[in-house]
Amino acid sequence: MCGIVAYVGYRQASEVIIKGLKRLEYRGYDSTGIALVNGGLNVYKKKGKVSELETYLKGMDLNSHIGMGHTRWATHGEPNDENAHPHYSATRNLAIIHNGIIENYASLRKELTRKGHTFLSETDTEVFIHFIEDIYEKEKCSLDEAVRLALTKVVGAYAIVVMSFENPNMLIAARKGSPLVLGIGKGEFFMASDATPIIEYTNEVVYLNDQEIALVDNGKLTIKNVANLPLTPYIQTVDMELEALEKGGYDHFMLKEIFEQPRSILDCMRGRLDSASNRLILGGLREYIKKLVNADRIMIVACGTSWHAGLVAEYFFEEFCRIPTEVEYASEFRYRNPIIREGDVVIAISQSGETADTLAAIELAKSKGAIIFGVCNVVGSSIPRFTHAGTYTHAGPEIGVASTKAFTAQLTVLNMIALIVAHTKGTITEQKFHEMLVEMEHIPSKVERVLKQNDKIHLIAEEFKDVHNFLYLGRGYNFPVALEGALKLKEISYIHAEGYPAAEMKHGPIALIDNEMPVVFIATKDSSYEKVVSNIQEVKARKGRVIAVITEGDKLIPSMAEFVIEVPATHEALMPIVSVVPLQLLSYHMAVMRGCNVDQPRNLAKSVTVE
Ligand code: G6P
Repeated sequence: MCGIVAYVGYRQASEVIIKGLKRLEYRGYDSTGIALVNGGLNVYKKKGKVSELETYLKGMDLNSHIGMGHTRWATHGEPNDENAHPHYSATRNLAIIHNGIIENYASLRKELTRKGHTFLSETDTEVFIHFIEDIYEKEKCSLDEAVRLALTKVVGAYAIVVMSFENPNMLIAARKGSPLVLGIGKGEFFMASDATPIIEYTNEVVYLNDQEIALVDNGKLTIKNVANLPLTPYIQTVDMELEALEKGGYDHFMLKEIFEQPRSILDCMRGRLDSASNRLILGGLREYIKKLVNADRIMIVACGTSWHAGLVAEYFFEEFCRIPTEVEYASEFRYRNPIIREGDVVIAISQSGETADTLAAIELAKSKGAIIFGVCNVVGSSIPRFTHAGTYTHAGPEIGVASTKAFTAQLTVLNMIALIVAHTKGTITEQKFHEMLVEMEHIPSKVERVLKQNDKIHLIAEEFKDVHNFLYLGRGYNFPVALEGALKLKEISYIHAEGYPAAEMKHGPIALIDNEMPVVFIATKDSSYEKVVSNIQEVKARKGRVIAVITEGDKLIPSMAEFVIEVPATHEALMPIVSVVPLQLLSYHMAVMRGCNVDQPRNLAKSVTVE
């Protein structure tokens, strides 16, 4: 949450920063601000999106080669101009941008207030910069030393950048628990929450580690840790195409990402799966495969859409590998003293690789001796660095806040992991293993076929766009798809939606059904098909309006449902990758018709780096 970006070099800093903030808006968009050294150390900030700040800045003299900017997802204090970042220190000689939470800010604020400090905002961040300045003045040390000393006293998570009026060629950055990447150009430096604002200028980056402080001063980068130990910067090359960060002709990133799925699923399998040679390899798994094969239990931790991917994976691991599997919300797992035994393996799933609750769950499981695998999308993010081993989903940057292509890539990776484990363990026959590989290779073209029904789904959306409630029902592998369909709808269209196992409907949701209630059934031909058909009858008997996702060629359900969307047949374990796609499109179209901001839904953020 919160996006931060900073620049020092020969370009106009404001241009680099505004562009960078737009790339980072997926992290939060409650308010936006920038600081520049142009005459003085000047801060410009506004409630609202980056575009609102841009309008405000029109016509101003922003000439500066150094600056920093912030797009906020509010934690302390409501979204308004005062609480927006950057924040000044007491003398206004220093300014800070911050992503994270300073947990002991209240006691620091009290102490500083006693010393005569007054604060303009309610934020923990303003307290932080006052505290740094207080140390700077008291210790008469260098500014980076004052930042370091302050960091030894604060409790919580942070990625910060500090600028000063007296040192107009200096940026100081530090991280603990929130991501920060440094970009190294020729005669210029960048700092940002992820690599997306940087890659159009340079692909040489340094991922700052926890408790590290970076100082860029007069064209030189030095890194040390909070314990004052000098460190050698580890420069890496990022492999990201600029066009992956653009809408590419689509109206929204979400639509582009939905349509990218045939490609992203293929990318996810590329070089890993080849049915012709019966080959399935995940390099990241090799070293720990024995642990998984011999696991007494698999525990999956994740949040949001990634948690839904975990629920599907539970079926994979139990069906193919015969390993008892539990799926936990990361936020619950960490607060209930979970029992982790030797022989348990934890799999953490996360698109961003930065979700605070998932990271904390990993930390807890690690402290209890568990082996942790990560399934992440963002290369170089925190989770892949904290886990023992793992597999990237390689779906490419996902910018729309509602996750789509990351979900189908997660399912693809989790299925591959399960097949490798089952094959090594001998719980799947050779023939079945081969059939699954062949079928997986067909998934991209099957998803392509679903996308061809976009116009039909648009018409269905038209019919239901004004309703207030929606129910999604599915069984077996399609139950998590029902949850995901409902989540997609509520996230972006603000229509109340619930996902349920179809059979559970009788124990409550059925009371909601009347002639105004749309019920989406994910009713593809699988082992629970007949049962789901009965559930459809039950809804029909109560005059509910049925929309069904069915297998191509099904003649029965079309005679019962008001609307059907056909998807190609596949193995039931792979069906979620296919059957979720029409639900993504349905929620997308309804949200657009309702005038909602699809890519940046209210109150949400793509990367939730606070508890
Ligand atoms: C936020 C996003 C969701 C995402 C969840 C978990 O709520 O809006 O789309 O599923 O975080 O994020 P992760 O990056 O860990 O998958």
